[in-house]
Amino acid sequence: MLARPSMPPASGRSPPPRGSERFAQRAPVAGIVKQGGVVHTRDGRCLLLRDIRANDVAALQRCFTRLSPQDIRRRFLHAMSELPDPMAQRLCNINPPLETAFVLMDESVEPEEMRGVGRIYVDESADSAEFSVLVEHDWARLGLGALLLQRLVDDCRRRGLHEIWGYVLMENRPMLELCRELGFQRRPATDEPGTAQISLKL
Ligand SMILES: CC(C)(COP(=O)(O)OP(=O)(O)OC[C@H]1O[C@@H](n2cnc3c(N)ncnc32)[C@H](O)[C@@H]1OP(=O)(O)O)[C@@H](O)C(=O)NCCC(=O)NCCS
Repeated sequence: MLARPSMPPASGRSPPPRGSERFAQRAPVAGIVKQGGVVHTRDGRCLLLRDIRANDVAALQRCFTRLSPQDIRRRFLHAMSELPDPMAQRLCNINPPLETAFVLMDESVEPEEMRGVGRIYVDESADSAEFSVLVEHDWARLGLGALLLQRLVDDCRRRGLHEIWGYVLMENRPMLELCRELGFQRRPATDEPGTAQISLKL
């Protein structure tokens, strides 16, 4: 992961609040989110936050090729050398009553590229949803992971769910720290050695 450079903000504005404060305030976490979902990162780049679409398959697969083996293991909880077509299709063709998936699209390049994904799967019987979040390495540490997670929490609240939860590898310090900052509880996942289950009551 990239370390955040210890520099004053180029804009001269106050530095963004830390993760927990941003979350508590329900404030935009990656700079400014304008109407229409445009996210301005503090290093001057721009992404579009929108729902995933069926025709995002190629962008998702290109995004996968830019991930490190470590990122892949942290996201999928096991090693994968490629994102097979059927799986990519499945990930882009969600079932809206039970799934939400937000993507951060970089429209400054052609073709547009996917820089981040956050998704939930609702378990109606448990009145909860399992989440996952991914931000491409070159876009890390800008608040985008927190932004995606905040949007997923908002979506779970909108659905009237009581809990959002996820599995995180115990060695995945960035994600555990992000969740800690955002007020998630953590406990060992008894069914998955080396893994924590993190959850937030809504
Ligand atoms: C974990 C991940 C989503 C974080 O995304 P991100 O956009 O870099 O995170 P943010 O910039 O929103 O960070 C928010 C907070 O998380 C914590 N954090 C994030 N990266 C960190 C790191 N490398 N080291 C320590 N803390 C970190 C910090 O508390 C940070 O707040 P701060 O910047 O105010 O200090 C990203 O690293 C990733 O995609 N990893 C691979 C996939 C994965 O692990 N997914 C999780 C499985 S569900």
